[in-house]
Amino acid sequence: MKITKICCIGAGYVGGPTMAVIAKKNPNIKVTIVDINEERIAAWNDKDVSKLPIYEPGLAEIVEETRGKNLFFSTDIDETIRESEMIFISVNTPTKTYGKGKGMAADLKYVELCARNIAEVATTDKIVVEKSTLPVRTAQAIKSILHNTGNDVKFEILSNPEFLAEGTAIQDLLNPDRVLIGGESEDAIESLANVYGSWVPQDRILRTNVWSSELSKLTANAFLAQRISSINAISELCEHTEANVNEVAKAIGMDSRIGPKFLNASIGFGGSCFQKDILNLVYIARSYGLNAVADYWEQVIILNDHQKRRFSDHLISTLYNTVSGKKIAMLGWAFKKDTNDTRESAAIYVADHLLNEQAHIAVYDPKVNSKKVQGDLNYLNTRSAEENNELVTSFDEPYETAKDAHAIAIMTEWDEFKTYDWQKIYDNMKKPAFIFDGRNILNKTEMETIGFEYSSIGK
Ligand code: UDX
Ligand code: ADP
Repeated sequence: MKITKICCIGAGYVGGPTMAVIAKKNPNIKVTIVDINEERIAAWNDKDVSKLPIYEPGLAEIVEETRGKNLFFSTDIDETIRESEMIFISVNTPTKTYGKGKGMAADLKYVELCARNIAEVATTDKIVVEKSTLPVRTAQAIKSILHNTGNDVKFEILSNPEFLAEGTAIQDLLNPDRVLIGGESEDAIESLANVYGSWVPQDRILRTNVWSSELSKLTANAFLAQRISSINAISELCEHTEANVNEVAKAIGMDSRIGPKFLNASIGFGGSCFQKDILNLVYIARSYGLNAVADYWEQVIILNDHQKRRFSDHLISTLYNTVSGKKIAMLGWAFKKDTNDTRESAAIYVADHLLNEQAHIAVYDPKVNSKKVQGDLNYLNTRSAEENNELVTSFDEPYETAKDAHAIAIMTEWDEFKTYDWQKIYDNMKKPAFIFDGRNILNKTEMETIGFEYSSIGK
């Protein structure tokens, strides 16, 4: 099928950047991103591209270049589905918060609503592409809904998982290690391969069956997360043995079979994918009675939770076993640098632990505002919104954030943190002034020369 119009349902962290790059590289294809969230679509259409709902280096430039030419953002979902030959489903698939599989399985209600929506309004044949990360065999469910609800039109379902990482999304999309397309119909697979083929070499476009494609996405994320939990486990051992986790990471990373990436010890991984995908994997394994497999992967999450808890416990014990009434300055709230995304950020959980001990928290993140910080804490439901508001204050620069603080906790590895006038920060803090470097980004000797009591992960 020749593709001239693409619809993407879901204008989020995956749909937005992916479609922007597809539009840039395929000027002859009209790409429309639709969403039920009117506010979000309005933000994507904002003349001032610095107000786009998602911050990704390089994204604003591409949107500016393509928007209104062959990239569009709209809330008219039905009409866009109707006119398009290819429809990407790129909606959120959070972990279920209710019923069977609560806290483990993916909540597929948004995906199912999309499938029903497509089935109801489509009048011509469509290729439906699952882009959201989904549990294995979801394509089967989508297929069944489409075929049983549709108006006699033909649907082909493809799985095309996204491997982009936030903060480097545009680079990852422009130069992907691989593009994975799973499907049954060769014709449909080639239609999508041609869309990517306008900039991705054919030998990097893998064709598999649908189930392999779905499972590969979960497996890739599980392996990446497992590396972080593995090095974080070693970081705790380092702290007890005077080994240095950075030295260990470097030494093992030079083994070409292990490789150097994803070996940075930290306060623990966050983001919308790793935990959700592993929980999914665990849930699926258990549902087939594969308990040894499920237990194995579950341990990656148990260790990650332990790492976050360990960080806040260490902070409290170092501050003479009490943080009650003390100001703790948190630098960084996003789950990693170069994004405004805070989903599952370790900062949220560390802040929550400290608030349980009656700490006062000051937050500064270059891309995250106070509304988001409060929203993240309120979502945990540990205490009232009023209390969170009273105990947590956001600032728009670091020096006020740290003023009169007893300690600084580095939560995100933003590059700008390394460029601060740390002497000035030190001078305005309570003494002794502590730094807990949850990302190992500052230089221990420099910090100690200024006078800080410095501790980091695994050293
Ligand atoms: C991840 C996958 O990398 C990507 O392929 C997939 O499509 C979506 O999930 P993302 O969640 O955007 O991407 O970020 P990633 O760079 O993988 O980092 C995840 C978390 O791990 C972050 O909190 C990061 O700070 C942490 N991390 C990463 C470490 O703690 N140490 C490391 O060495 C690397
Ligand atoms: P991701 O990180 O997977 O891109 P986001 O939460 O950033 O997730 O984006 C998903 C988007 O999908 C949201 O903007 C949400 O409003 C949208 N969405 C969810 N369900 C539907 C639906 N049935 N129709 C259209 N848009 C939807």
